[in-house]
Amino acid sequence: MTDRTLSIVILAAGKGTRMHSRRPKVLHPIAGRSMLGHVLELAGSIPGARIGVVIGPGMEDVREEAARWAPDASIFVQENQSGTADAVLAARSLLETSNGDVIVLYADSPLMRKETLGKLIDSLDAGAAVSVVGFEAPDPTGYGRLLTDQSGHLVAIREHKDASPEELKVRLCNSGVMAFRLPDIAKVLDRIGNDNAKGEYYLTDAVEIARADGGIAAVVTCEADEVLGVNSRDQLAEAEAIWQARARRAFMHAGVTMIAPETVWLSYDTQIGCDVTIEPNVFIGPGVTIAEGVRIKANSYLEGIDRKSAGGLRIESGAEVGPFARLRPGTELGANVHIGNFVEVKNAVVEAGAKANHLTYIGDGVVGAGANIGAGTIFCNYDGFKKSRCEVGAGAFIGSNSALVAPVTIGDGAYVAAGSVITTNVEADSLAVVRATREDRPGWAAKYRAMMQRRKG
Ligand code: UD1
Ligand code: CA
Repeated sequence: MTDRTLSIVILAAGKGTRMHSRRPKVLHPIAGRSMLGHVLELAGSIPGARIGVVIGPGMEDVREEAARWAPDASIFVQENQSGTADAVLAARSLLETSNGDVIVLYADSPLMRKETLGKLIDSLDAGAAVSVVGFEAPDPTGYGRLLTDQSGHLVAIREHKDASPEELKVRLCNSGVMAFRLPDIAKVLDRIGNDNAKGEYYLTDAVEIARADGGIAAVVTCEADEVLGVNSRDQLAEAEAIWQARARRAFMHAGVTMIAPETVWLSYDTQIGCDVTIEPNVFIGPGVTIAEGVRIKANSYLEGIDRKSAGGLRIESGAEVGPFARLRPGTELGANVHIGNFVEVKNAVVEAGAKANHLTYIGDGVVGAGANIGAGTIFCNYDGFKKSRCEVGAGAFIGSNSALVAPVTIGDGAYVAAGSVITTNVEADSLAVVRATREDRPGWAAKYRAMMQRRKG
C-alpha cells in the first residue's frame, strides 16, 4: 500500500441542460459553494490524492472554479461527450502515470461522505480490482443496476435502458462512484465498446472486463442521500435540504442551540462556537464565524464574502445580534456588542461592549469600545463617488437621529447631540450640537386656532 498513488478523476463535462441555466450545472451552489467545489473538497480530504477534473470544451468558468478549490488539480477537456468511459479516458495522462488506484466521482453529486470513500478504498485493499458504491434506491428508475452473485460479488452493471425485465427488478443501484486497482486502467477502458441503447462508452462496462481478466468486483453501500445526482433545480433544492439538515445536526451535536433548526440556513464554511443560540429564521451566508455564547435573534441576515476572500464576518463571544439585524462583509463585532433591530453593519469594527440597538447604518468605520450609537444614527459613508470612513471613539455617545458625514472622527468620550449632522471632527470629551436655533412664541398656537375657527364659522 505504501508506494501506491491514488488518483481521483472528477467528471464535470455535463452541460446540465435540464437546469435551464446559462451556468454549467456543476457551478450551481449548495450552501454557498459550487457542487464542483464540494466534490473537490471531498477529493482533497484524501491525503496524497492526485486530482483530475474533466470538463467540456469551452468551459473556462468550470476550469477557474476547479483552480480555486484545488490549485494543484489537472484539468482535462473531453472533446465529444460520448460516455463516462470516454470522459475518464480524457484524463489519460493522469491514468498512465498513476501506478495505483483510481477513483471516479461525478461533480453533480455533491453529498458523498468521506467515510464512504474510505470504505471504497478499503475494499480495494481487501482484493477488489473494481469496486462500486451502491445504494438501495426507493425508486431505481434510470439508475444502472448492480447485478451480484450469491456471494455478493458484483457481476455486472446494467444500465436501465439495457436491462431485461428481470434485471429491472433489482433495487441495488450504481451511484456512479467507482474505484479501480488495475495494472493499467487506460488499457481496460480502451476495450470498452459502445454497443448499447445509448451508443455511449459506459464506464460501468469495466466491471465485466475486469472480471473476464480474473479480477474481483465488489460493492460497498451507502445511504441514498449521499449519492443524489443533481440534474434539475428541484434536485438542487433537495440536495441543499439534505446538506442543511446534516450541517444543523452537526452544529447541535457540537453545542449550538437552534430553537427551530429547520429555519436556520448555514454555509459550507460557517463556524459556530459552543453555547451559541440561534433563534428562528436566520440566514448565514459564506464567511461567517460566530464565537462562543453569542445569541443571534430571529430574522437576522448575516453574510461575509467567504473564507477564501477578505471580507469575512466575525462575531466575538457574548455578543447579541438582532432581531432583524443585517450584518454584511467585513464586519467584526467585539465581545458583548449589542446590535439590535433594523441595524445594518458593513465593513466596520464594533469594539467590545459597544451598542447600536435600533435603526442604524454603520458602514466603513470603527465604533470604539463601550460607545453608544443612538437610534436612527447613519454613517454617511458615500458621496456618490467614493466611500469614506467614520471613526467613533471609545465611550462616545451619539444621540439619536444623527448623521455622521464621512470622513469624520468623533473623539473618545465625546457626545453628539441628537439630530446633529456632523461634518467635521469632534474632540474627545466635548459636546457637538448642530441644530437650528430654537424660537418660541408663547400663546401663538391658541391665537392661531381661535383665528381659524372664526374664519370657518
Ligand atoms: C450513470 C451510470 C449509472 C448510474 C448513474 C448514477 C454510466 C454508464 N452509468 O448514469 O450506472 O446509476 O450514473 O447517477 O456510467 N459525463 C461526462 N462525459 C460524458 C458522459 C457523462 O463527463 O461523455 C459525466 C456527466 O456530466 C455526469 C456523469 O458523467 O456528471 C454521469 O453521466 P450521465 O450521462 O448523467 O450518466 P447516467 O445515465 O446518469
Ligand atoms: Ca446522471
